[in-house]
Amino acid sequence: MNTKKEIIRILEQNSEYVSGEKISEFLHITRTAVWKNINALRNSGYSIESVTNRGYKLIARPDKITPEEIALGLKTKLLAKRIDCYDRIDSTNEEAKRKALAGAPDGSLFVAEEQTGGKGRLGRSWTSPAGQGLWFTVLLRSSLLPSQAANITLLAGLAVCRAIQRNTGCAAMIKWPNDIVIESKKVCGILTEMAAEMDRIEYMAVGIGVNVNNENFPEELSVKATSLRLESGSFIRRVPLLQEILFELETVLKDFPLHTESLLREYKSRCVSLNRRVGFIRENRKMVGVAEDISPSGELIVRCDDGTKFPISSGEVTV
Ligand code: BTN
Repeated sequence: MNTKKEIIRILEQNSEYVSGEKISEFLHITRTAVWKNINALRNSGYSIESVTNRGYKLIARPDKITPEEIALGLKTKLLAKRIDCYDRIDSTNEEAKRKALAGAPDGSLFVAEEQTGGKGRLGRSWTSPAGQGLWFTVLLRSSLLPSQAANITLLAGLAVCRAIQRNTGCAAMIKWPNDIVIESKKVCGILTEMAAEMDRIEYMAVGIGVNVNNENFPEELSVKATSLRLESGSFIRRVPLLQEILFELETVLKDFPLHTESLLREYKSRCVSLNRRVGFIRENRKMVGVAEDISPSGELIVRCDDGTKFPISSGEVTV
């Protein structure tokens, strides 16, 4: 039993004071244990009032990412059975890979308030300031084939898009392969790393960074980056958004590969790269063409002006 999580659940279900005695009876723990756990919750940012002879009352929950907050009301069946939260870490992807080597199970979740060495795609860094965004990695160890990895990367983008739209009302779109943009500014990036043999994926670390409540960005990013707060005009609670992303991620993974066709259709309907002129690099040459389609295995199909078509599977595509 996660005692802190159960105490929050009890306090949340009661708008009035709940006595320490009732909590201890309900959870089969001592009064001292109740008191210790209440203090630990206060230390992690919960505002809990206590009144002699009446008990405890939950006044406010923190916008802090804790295993208890994530687990409470989480709708997933497989993802986030194990949750590791950090105040500060180099990179949740690096941590997921370290823990994968130590045997962390399928679906493990690694979340940080701040990353000191956040990694982006193509060897870039990812700015991850404390308390402002969602910086997390989901470890997948399912029986997927290496050839399906590109699809998983696209599907993760689709899942984030759905969750952002549902939680904030913002019209989130996808820039191939999986940048999430709102009004052409980037609000989320996804870095998928994997360890695989020829015919088997050992694990995938799906790292997702969402700019949630950032109010400003370093100068070099401010023209191309945005946050959900800046776009929606309101403060966004991070835990419910994280829970929604995990739920949607589990849903798309469950639907894959059986419903690839409808998932791909939805992906394409949200993909801003299609029917646009895009630039890309092929064999060290800069090329341009019109992005015409996404192949069933997740490549962007670009038609150049001379009619030749190129399937692009990695690298930078500029819209
Ligand atoms: C990109 O668009 O370049 C990908 C950015 C991915 C950032 C996330 S934040 C959580 C996870 N940990 C990392 O170091 N990177 C990913």
